[in-house]
Amino acid sequence: SFSAVVVKGIHLPPFPLVESNINNYDKFHAREDDVWIVNWPKSGTHWVYEVVKLLMTDREELTDTVKEGTMFPEACAVESLEKLPSPRVLDTHVPLKLFPEEALKKSKIIYTLRNPKDAFVSGYYHVKNNVGSGYDGTWNGCFDLTIDENTCVYGSWFDHVADWMEVLENNPNALVVKYEDMQRNLKKEVRRIAEFLGYPKSEEIYENVTKKCSFGHMKKAKKEVKSFWKPGGSMYRKGIVGDWKNHFTVAQNEKFNAIFNEKRNKLRVSVDFEL
Ligand code: A3P
Repeated sequence: SFSAVVVKGIHLPPFPLVESNINNYDKFHAREDDVWIVNWPKSGTHWVYEVVKLLMTDREELTDTVKEGTMFPEACAVESLEKLPSPRVLDTHVPLKLFPEEALKKSKIIYTLRNPKDAFVSGYYHVKNNVGSGYDGTWNGCFDLTIDENTCVYGSWFDHVADWMEVLENNPNALVVKYEDMQRNLKKEVRRIAEFLGYPKSEEIYENVTKKCSFGHMKKAKKEVKSFWKPGGSMYRKGIVGDWKNHFTVAQNEKFNAIFNEKRNKLRVSVDFEL
């Protein structure tokens, strides 16, 4: 199984104090210039975070995660979030029902989507190589735990997307960014994100952000928190579309597609990835 702490029915990673952090969300003060990056895990969090940080600051280089940390409210106390200077960039994987209501009304939200099959595979390598995940089983075991809403960390992909899309689809403060679109044309998505954030930049800056956020550059330049990974683990593993085909069995694919087809009308978002 995956190590988890269950909060309001949702399995969350066992970050220290995760339960009190989430329960303290009602003390969280949202700001109008907060930017949230929200997604089901392994759907492009770090990628979009770097794009947003480069656009919102005058920096030309990627963030130093080791020094700055990433702002995962489920992993840090509300008081420490209060101390952050504006504009804050916050990341979260929580399903809608755990998200602070005030932030939904006031702040900007970028929801990133990735072909869930690729996110499942990416998640397998994440838990396999992560120090605190508690998982050292096979891909098949991981698939079963991830497709099952009762064991999946952060809840089922299907419900996550359906619930979030319902509140975001007509929200002018929200932008949906697809991992596959970033793969196809990163500069175009960088520009879209900049315009959404109200930080339009020059062509030259878009070029620089695109270059700095290429997979190759990020893999080479980003320092990672060593204590997070077993040897060989990395947040920047393969960075491709379609790795699921090297992992899903025919039976797993059929099982996935059956659930997908049953729930697809609730997803409210065009799904342009391969089934
Ligand atoms: P893979 O495991 O398939 O390689 P998250 O940041 O949400 O945890 O997602 C991690 C996934 O995003 C990993 O997928 C990682 O390689 C991929 N990723 C990170 N930066 C990327 C980039 N610049 N270009 C393409 N993929 C990237």
